[in-house]
Amino acid sequence: MEDKIRVLIPEEEVDARVEEIGKKISEDYTGQPVHLICVLKGGVFFTCELAKRITVPVSMDFMCVSSYGAGTQSSGVVRIIKDLDEPLAGKHVLIVEDIIDSGRTLSYLIEVLKQRGPADIKICTLLDKPSRRVKKEVQVDYTCFSIPDEFVVGYGLDYDQKYRNLPYIGVVEV
Ligand code: IMP
Ligand code: MG
Repeated sequence: MEDKIRVLIPEEEVDARVEEIGKKISEDYTGQPVHLICVLKGGVFFTCELAKRITVPVSMDFMCVSSYGAGTQSSGVVRIIKDLDEPLAGKHVLIVEDIIDSGRTLSYLIEVLKQRGPADIKICTLLDKPSRRVKKEVQVDYTCFSIPDEFVVGYGLDYDQKYRNLPYIGVVEV
């Protein structure tokens, strides 16, 4: 059965905003390399698009954590499924997320990665649902879009592993 998907942010708008944020990051990191940490799987499309628009030297690593089970319910439990390949010591780390909802995933990630001695850690997210935040202490440095409390898909985000490949941000109509 096909779900009905309503466009929330069209492709052109997402692309233009990613371009803008890429520029901002390039300015902020002038003279410094940036080490992007892509949070799999949702962050993969955004990380690639963003990386192409950053003009300072970029290195990338990938981590997979799980905070949600199937469906749209948070389990509240964060698990490392795949860890980074490279050490973080002395690096300027930029965590790249698809979406920050409760903030639990990010809060956990920051705690784990801090212990590996990076020069600094910043956060970049495609989407933020500020009204859903439980972990209020999580500071986001770069946000492409703040959205209302709706379950979104596309640009990496899934609903039961579907719709990651949509080039826009959409809402699954139930
Ligand atoms: P948090 O730990 O509650 O902040 O949840 C973050 C993770 O939950 C994200 O990395 C997504 O994988 C997933 N998530 C939260 N909201 C949505 C949504 O609207 N659509 C798809 N995935 C979501
Ligand atoms: Mg997910």
